[in-house]
Amino acid sequence: PTVFVITPTYARLVQKAELTRLSQTFLHVPQLHWIVVEDSPHKTPLVTDLLVKSGLTYTHLHMLTAKDRKLQEGDPSWLKPRGVEQRNEGLRWLREDRRAQPGGDNQQGVVYFADDDNTYSLQIFEEMRSTQRVSVWPVGLVGGMKYERPVVEGGKVVRFHTGWRPSRPFPMDMAGFAVSLKLVLANPEACFDGEAPMGFLESSFLQGLVTMDELEPKADNCSKVLVWHTRTEKPKMKREEALQAQGLGSDRAVEV
Ligand code: UGA
Ligand code: MN
Repeated sequence: PTVFVITPTYARLVQKAELTRLSQTFLHVPQLHWIVVEDSPHKTPLVTDLLVKSGLTYTHLHMLTAKDRKLQEGDPSWLKPRGVEQRNEGLRWLREDRRAQPGGDNQQGVVYFADDDNTYSLQIFEEMRSTQRVSVWPVGLVGGMKYERPVVEGGKVVRFHTGWRPSRPFPMDMAGFAVSLKLVLANPEACFDGEAPMGFLESSFLQGLVTMDELEPKADNCSKVLVWHTRTEKPKMKREEALQAQGLGSDRAVEV
């Protein structure tokens, strides 16, 4: 089955670097369809060009986050969820596109939400390919911990190893689960709730789809870390700004 990867992305200094790294990881994954959703009022030339040259099978979409829903400069990063409208737009496209593709094959597939800054091993894509409903695995470097993970006993998820609010329905990072396309199509209303309280974004989507008992543990009964919640440092532009003030800033025609 094809792995459909939905990635929200937004313009910033490190965007091209992040998308380059991600696209080159995906080039090593067979049968992957990348759904890139820009948080922008239109498709940007930077992303358009990168996708055209990527060599990947992809769909390029955009969906601007409403201003009152978007994190403002200086806000703490936990104040509002990110990538919500973009993931929902990816789901909307997928549901519509599958309806337009008749035949027994159009329901085969797995849906994964990959943020543009995380680090993905190739193995995680092979692990998720056999997802029947919802599969789960550990995520490294997340939640202020070395890793968070579902705890597996007798082949079933019985609770979650997390430092914060383990009572949440699904206390997992976005990078820690995949959903079968069939389940996504059978539940046309399932989406991410941007109004969900902090930490409940993943639960808002998964709640209507599965129970803890039904989760399919991957990565050797959730004993291996195959994806990392890495975050890229914001580059400092002090010298650039100083030079700009003297009319000596970097050439704007050079795409970074
Ligand atoms: C954590 C989780 O790993 C995310 O899956 C979750 O969406 C996020 O928290 C949240 O609370 O909303 P974090 O590293 O803090 O992730 O978030 P980012 O990586 O900054 O953003 C998640 C995704 O949304 C990225 O793909 C990013 O490119 C995108 N994004 C971010 C936008 O599309 N627009 C924005 O304004 C900001
Ligand atoms: Mn991130």
